[in-house]
Amino acid sequence: MRLDVLSIFPEYLDPLRHALLGRAIEKDILSVGVHDLRQWASDVHRSVDDSPYGGGPGMVMKPEVWGPALDDVADGTGPAARAEDLASANPHLLRPQHDDSDTETQAEEDSDLPLLIVPTPAGKPFTQADAQSWAKEHHIVFACGRYEGIDQRVVEDAAQRYRVREVSIGDYVLIGGEVAVLVIAEAIVRLIPGVLGNRRSHEEDSFSDGLLEGPSYTKPRVWRELEVPPVLLSGNHAIVERWRRDQALLRTQAVRPELLAGVELTPQDQSVLDRG
Ligand code: ADE
Repeated sequence: MRLDVLSIFPEYLDPLRHALLGRAIEKDILSVGVHDLRQWASDVHRSVDDSPYGGGPGMVMKPEVWGPALDDVADGTGPAARAEDLASANPHLLRPQHDDSDTETQAEEDSDLPLLIVPTPAGKPFTQADAQSWAKEHHIVFACGRYEGIDQRVVEDAAQRYRVREVSIGDYVLIGGEVAVLVIAEAIVRLIPGVLGNRRSHEEDSFSDGLLEGPSYTKPRVWRELEVPPVLLSGNHAIVERWRRDQALLRTQAVRPELLAGVELTPQDQSVLDRG
């Protein structure tokens, strides 16, 4: 997968080189280009923003800067062609990898256009289902807005070269899209086959079955007089799985009850919830 990020604070994206994403870069599963938007600013001050039409506080990012920047990143031309890819921060020892090519599936949307993700608090909520779908993409471009956002015509115009998605990572306002990109990129990249060591670990993620994941435990069996639930030591796989489902149901009911409306509940699930 290829990720390109456009930002006026390229150093903000440095975490993309670390940990899991850094490993994906080393394994050639991922390549990342981070581009300083000011390269496309043409005036002497390299300004990227201007006052909003209609008045009001803050500044709006200029279409004459964003338009050519997105054209170049889509086509790999201009300053985008000269950008160096991010290198992994901490080269890990490469272990032999299993071949995941058999598990790769086609992108759900049958289109050669790259996906443009524009993080904005005014966007659609980003979900695990989006991450699962976007993990199958070949080329994703992120446009990081600052100030009061990007002139809306940029998003309209970009639809000629991209499939555009405006997304929010939650009901709060950040200073810019960079941190949202880190969140979205990590959620996507960990789902690419070969990135996580243990494939089962994301099949059991919170949200994958519409429920929050229940609690987890490791050794020692007793810690500060607190015991691991004995059922986990039973060795009975079916009983353990049932217990995990019950815990997931009860946690979801307690913390995010609205999620239960989207879950297919068996009569046994329902009775666990009624008792809980
Ligand atoms: N930019 C500013 N706030 C944001 C949010 N909540 N989600 C995505 N991008 C943002």
